[in-house]
Amino acid sequence: MFDEYGFPGDADVDPAAPTLYTFVYCSRAAEGVDEAEVHRLIEAAQRHNHDHGITGVLVFGSGVFFQWIEGPGAEVQKLIASLHGDPRHYDIVELDRSEDKRERLYPSWEMERVDADNIRAVLEDALDSAEEEHNIAALTRILAHLDTQPLDTLGRD
Ligand SMILES: Cc1cc2nc3c(=O)[nH]c(=O)nc-3n(C[C@H](O)[C@H](O)[C@H](O)COP(=O)(O)O)c2cc1C
Repeated sequence: MFDEYGFPGDADVDPAAPTLYTFVYCSRAAEGVDEAEVHRLIEAAQRHNHDHGITGVLVFGSGVFFQWIEGPGAEVQKLIASLHGDPRHYDIVELDRSEDKRERLYPSWEMERVDADNIRAVLEDALDSAEEEHNIAALTRILAHLDTQPLDTLGRD
């Protein structure tokens, strides 16, 4: 079912689908945030997310975080506030924030590790579509940081 502009109309929205709030961002790990700290962070996040209906994916590579979070609006917004006050990362660039009726993209919370080339592609895409000056500056800094990382330390477990 398409409307006059060729977009799917409301008839395609599954009435049983939940209303999900989505938050997508990338950031840089603070100095001293090592494998052990990321491991601890994930364990605590998994517990909290499970109890609050939040799912998504966290990508960590070359000192850069990329996270997709989805769940009930009030819960996701509380988490966003916590993330903004968390000293374990900085240069947070908001890539997407939206609320719509749809099935979850990530039905379970996962952690994935990517190599520098993959995370670079994600960030270059984000830079292409970034409009705010602050975001463009932060994404440019993150990409420059990837250039200075010695390759043999990238993407290792
Ligand atoms: C990169 C990154 C990703 C995080 N992801 C989550 C998450 O998915 N869920 C979560 O509960 N906390 C996550 N945290 C931790 C939160 O920032 C925060 O420490 C935690 O929610 C406790 O918040 P509170 O002290 O305000 O209660 C993450 C932290 C960082 C640095």
